[in-house]
Formats: sequence, C-alpha cells, structure tokens
Amino acid sequence: MRPKITVIGGGFVGSTTAHFLAMHELGDIVLLDINDGIPQGKALDLSQAAPVEGFDVQIRGTNSYEDTANSDIVVITAGMPRKPGMSRDELLAVNAGIVKTASENIKKYSPNAIVIVVTNPLDAMVHVAWKTTGFDSRRVIGMAGVLDSARMRHFIAEAVGVSVEDVTAFVMGGHGDTMIPLMRFAQVGGVPLADLLPKEKIDAIVERTRNGGAEIVSLLKTGSAYYAPAASVVAMVESILRDKKRVLPCAAYLNGEYGVKGLFIGVPVVLGGKGVERILEVKLNEEEKAAFEKTVQHVQELVTGSKF
Ligand code: NAI
Ligand code: 2OP
Repeated sequence: MRPKITVIGGGFVGSTTAHFLAMHELGDIVLLDINDGIPQGKALDLSQAAPVEGFDVQIRGTNSYEDTANSDIVVITAGMPRKPGMSRDELLAVNAGIVKTASENIKKYSPNAIVIVVTNPLDAMVHVAWKTTGFDSRRVIGMAGVLDSARMRHFIAEAVGVSVEDVTAFVMGGHGDTMIPLMRFAQVGGVPLADLLPKEKIDAIVERTRNGGAEIVSLLKTGSAYYAPAASVVAMVESILRDKKRVLPCAAYLNGEYGVKGLFIGVPVVLGGKGVERILEVKLNEEEKAAFEKTVQHVQELVTGSKF
C-alpha cells in the first residue's frame, strides 16, 4: 500500500507541494482546503497530468477532514500568506486559529501521523500544532531551514559560478529576520567558501538570504514564494517516508539542546521514519551564540503572542 499524505491548504504552497509529491511518487495525496471546488479542481487537473508525466498516485481534493483519515504525513500550509510590507509575525493571530483547527482534525483523524508545518510565522505555528495535537515532539516539525538554506546555496552557486549540487551550507534559528546563515560551515565541493569569495560578497549573500522571502514577496506583489518552499517540504517528506535519515535544518523541539528548553527552532536534525530522530548540536562561536540567543528570544516572544 502506498503511504497517504495529506496537504492542508490548497493554495500556492499546498498545490505545488501536491504537484511535487506526485512527481516523486511519494504516496497517495489528499489536498484539503476550506474553499469548495478549489482542492477538487486542482486534484483533478493534477490527476490528468499523470498519464502524460507517468506518475501512479491517487490525488483527491476535499473540504472534509474525514477524507484525510489515517494519513502517514500531514503538511499544514493553510493560512494567510504575506502581503508586500507585511511581516511574517503579523500573520500570527489569524494563522494560529487556522493551524489550531487543522491540528485538532489531525489529532482526531490521523493520530499516528507525522506533521510538517509550513504556515507562518513558522516557529510559533509549529508550537501551536504540537500543543493542539499533543503528539510526541519528534512527530511535529517545521519547514523553513531547508528553504532558507536552499536560497543561500543558490546565491553561493551563482556567485562562485558552480553547480548548486556542490554547495553545502545551512541556516539555523527562527524563520525570519533573526535567522542565522552559518557561513563558517559553507563549502563548495569541500572547499571553504571563505577561500573562494571575498568577505563583502559573503556578507551580501547573508543579507540576501535573510531577505530571501521578502525579495520574492516584493516581486510577486500578491503573495509569497511557493516553488522552493514546496520542494523543501517534499525533501522532508521523502526523508521521512524512505527513512533516509538526511541531515536537514528543521524547526524541531529543543529539550535542553543548545541550552534551550520547550521551544521549536531551526537546527540541523536527522530526519527519518520516526520524524526527528536526533538533533545535531553545532559548536557555535561567541558571535553565533549571541545570534542564537537573539533568535530564541524572538521565537519565544512569538510563541507567547500566539497564547499557546
Ligand atoms: P495561499 O493563500 O495561496 O494558500 C493558503 C490556502 O489556505 C488558501 O487556499 C486558503 O483557502 C486555505 N485556508 C485558509 N484557511 C483554511 C482553513 N481553515 N482550512 C483549510 N484551508 C484553509 O498561501 P500560500 O502561498 O500557499 O502560503 C500558505 C502559508 O505558508 C502562509 O502562511 C505562508 O506565509 C506560509 N509559507 C511559509 C513558508 C516557510 O518557509 N515556512 C514558505 C512559504 C509560505
Ligand atoms: C518565505 O520565506 C513567505 O516565509 C515565506 O518565502
């Protein structure tokens, strides 16, 4: 039997996630939205791409949580996206309610699922999903670090003039202005980035990575990014369903790691069949530690603001 993957929210991120999941044949897909007709229409359209593209999965659109029953993975993308000039944090109140409703239904219909949260403000919304479902924290994970790191890898590959495949680099911390692009660990084919680019170019990449989401919002004007976010979700789903144990930066529950307790924040984790199987602790230098404390404080404020 194929795994069952539910995507809640059939907007730009949700439907693109369903598209990429189908192309990778990772499982049967249920696309759920409150808008009647939208998930059904997108699911039907995507199903009709299958004979051409040659993927064999079932895709169903629905407005009813009953159709999501016994999902192995549930991805929450439901919520409002950012508008130009709007911060992710302003989405807090409205999206907390949406994520709460989604999480209540996940608990009811798919009590054994692993939940991947995408809705912003990300780090606080993962907290809402964890509190509401009451699931083991290893089964509730936020997607942001894979996306932020992918943006940074793209900028590095472009600046050095090499394949993105040979660029390793990752971003830690909250998904927002306090994220920490860890350039000290960035490498191109095993060569430290600092040997290949001058400091001012590296600093510019850090800045552009931090503004990666806003740059796209300001270009699109009517919404936020969705191709790279969807691809990032799919990398996480694949690592879980195929028990690949990839090391990916994800918003994971810290229980003493990095000196933090009771908060979800972006750190490198081993992602496998059980969800977050390990948290890798990077030895941060003094400057990075200070940046991490700042991002933790910001995420804590968001969680407090969400009242969960
Ligand atoms: P969108 O507006 O295209 O789609 C959101 C969908 O959610 C809409 O179709 C809407 O009808 C649906 N929805 C609203 N309330 C619902 C409910 N109660 N139940 C089910 N569906 C509901 O927005 P988009 O671009 O897909 O973004 C979705 C969310 O993902 C936003 O909060 C955005 O900020 C966030 N995001 C997070 C990223 C990350 O790195 N964590 C990256 C990109 C987007
Ligand atoms: C992004 O980084 C909006 O959080 C979303 O593109």
